[in-house]
Amino acid sequence: MKGHRFRPETEAVRGGDHLEKRNAALAQPIYQTSTFQVTDSDEQLRATSTDMFYTRYGNPTHTAVERALAELEGTDAALLFASGMCAITTTVLAVVKTGDHIVAQRDVYGGVTKFLSAWLVQRGIETTFVDTTEYDQHARAIRPNTRLLYLESPTNPTLRVVDLAKTVAIARDHDLITLIDSTFATPINQRPAEFGVDIVVHSGTKYLAGHTDLICGAACGRRDLIDRIRETRTTLGGVMDPHAAFLLRRGMKTLALRVARQNQTALQIAEHLAHHRKVRAVNYPFLEAHPQRALALKQMTGGGGVLSFEIDGTGEDARRLSESLHLFSLAPSLGGVESLVSIPVLTSHAMISPEHRQKMGVSEQLIRLSVGIENADDLLADLDQALAVVTRSQQQVAVG
Ligand SMILES: Cc1ncc(COP(=O)(O)O)c(C=O)c1O
Repeated sequence: MKGHRFRPETEAVRGGDHLEKRNAALAQPIYQTSTFQVTDSDEQLRATSTDMFYTRYGNPTHTAVERALAELEGTDAALLFASGMCAITTTVLAVVKTGDHIVAQRDVYGGVTKFLSAWLVQRGIETTFVDTTEYDQHARAIRPNTRLLYLESPTNPTLRVVDLAKTVAIARDHDLITLIDSTFATPINQRPAEFGVDIVVHSGTKYLAGHTDLICGAACGRRDLIDRIRETRTTLGGVMDPHAAFLLRRGMKTLALRVARQNQTALQIAEHLAHHRKVRAVNYPFLEAHPQRALALKQMTGGGGVLSFEIDGTGEDARRLSESLHLFSLAPSLGGVESLVSIPVLTSHAMISPEHRQKMGVSEQLIRLSVGIENADDLLADLDQALAVVTRSQQQVAVG
């Protein structure tokens, strides 16, 4: 873990900046170039280890954003990728090899479940999935060839909270690398490096970029690990376009403001839904009834902008509700300024088996909300009218 120069709100805006007085552009210039020219062969040799050689190896626009991200996460270094999945797959491939074993919590993003349980297995790397908050299972699953403990907190879409100090202690006892997907939390609400987590990954597509207009990913961590991951990134080639990196940096400047509003509104909506008679259960880390609320309060400064809830009804009712909302657009993402609704069995978790989904608690009645920065009362009114539509249609079926 690296110390912080400033508080999170300041680092979101100024992180990575050289603050000395100088004559220069204030916004990050975009190096929209695939390659960099040099004066002679000696310079060519020197350039290979810089960010002005060839953009798949690096680019000054990337460097500026990577510095900002590392500062915000409190890590030695960071790397950008073409997507969140690219950040995750490249990072995992950089730290494990054929014959190695991974322990992963059961609740992880559906694309990651598929990567670990199908794709890696075909290449001789096995994963044991363990109940997310049953830590003795984590320890029991570790084998002599285990290299990596894969975590996600809070989890998508059930919002379980993983005890970071406990899992890091288990990993250290067995000399494992810890990797966490911290997309839902953002570096504003949670800084896993402070708990000793080695690598923090993000789908930057979500909160970091924040405006639903680009796909990107990031890995932040210890210098030696980031160097290994960089080499793998250069080989596999999943770098970000420099213009997209510029957009990411611009989005990050308002991260703290957006997340503060999203924390506040999501809690308000979670509390409202928890008292609604058509709602069976609400998942939100800072909700009074959340089983890990005390842990969430200890390791997070806000509950985040995502919540999920189970409607008292059928899968058909959940679909009707999601289609009846107007301010929550029906779309499979999260973390942007616009509120979104999705049904995980149709979107983020469609690609994993019904049995695995059942173990995760992802039912057909589960609805996920990503709360944007709109007015909270407008969002609550939209939810109430959609719940009323479902109630009316259930009553019609009962009468019919
Ligand atoms: C928690 C989490 N991790 C990773 C990803 C993958 O990110 P991307 O879509 O940017 O590849 C997602 C996408 O929804 C996600 O929700």
